[in-house]
Amino acid sequence: NVEAEINQLKALIRDVPDFPKPGIVFKDITPLLGTPWAFQKVIDYMGNRYVGSGVEVVVGIESRGFILASALAYKLGAGLAIIRKPGKLPYKTVSASYTLEYGEDSIEIHEDAVRRGTKVVLVDDVLATGGTMSAAIDLVEKLGGDIVGVDFLIELTFLGGREKITSRGYPVFSLIKF
Ligand code: PRP
Ligand code: MG
Repeated sequence: NVEAEINQLKALIRDVPDFPKPGIVFKDITPLLGTPWAFQKVIDYMGNRYVGSGVEVVVGIESRGFILASALAYKLGAGLAIIRKPGKLPYKTVSASYTLEYGEDSIEIHEDAVRRGTKVVLVDDVLATGGTMSAAIDLVEKLGGDIVGVDFLIELTFLGGREKITSRGYPVFSLIKF
């Protein structure tokens, strides 16, 4: 059954205490990615929800979001668009900034990565505060993309990031919740 399978996947996520900073428990997905049946299951669960829904482009967020987004794009027969950290993309970009615990950061997308009216799904590995994904949504909105879903492998529910996205009218899906 599905719940048991999700729990098996959950067991393949490793807690690493004090990474990248003291007091933070990092959710390390590399054991899951390295387990053949598990990686495939993750992409099947995420992708099967969209089969037949006409998704044209999957947008992945650097860096761990790329891993999931590219496999998902392949599964859906969709294109892949990438959102990167500043200064990494070679062509003309649009950018959006978001606040961190201390200070600000920004992300960028090529101005032609998503065309007006294109059906897109946004993907990242982890939903924490939702700051990164909110900025990613800003970018896709600027380009006029039609966001049909916002997907994560992991949601840290106690941080309440989901609300930042649902309050903008977009459906959020996460496979594994902590
Ligand atoms: C992590 C994670 C998400 C984001 C979630 O990325 O991969 O992208 O933080 O946090 P938020 O919901 O509070 O914005 P990070 O910025 O550490 O970069 P990385 O993916 O390149 O490791
Ligand atoms: Mg990230």
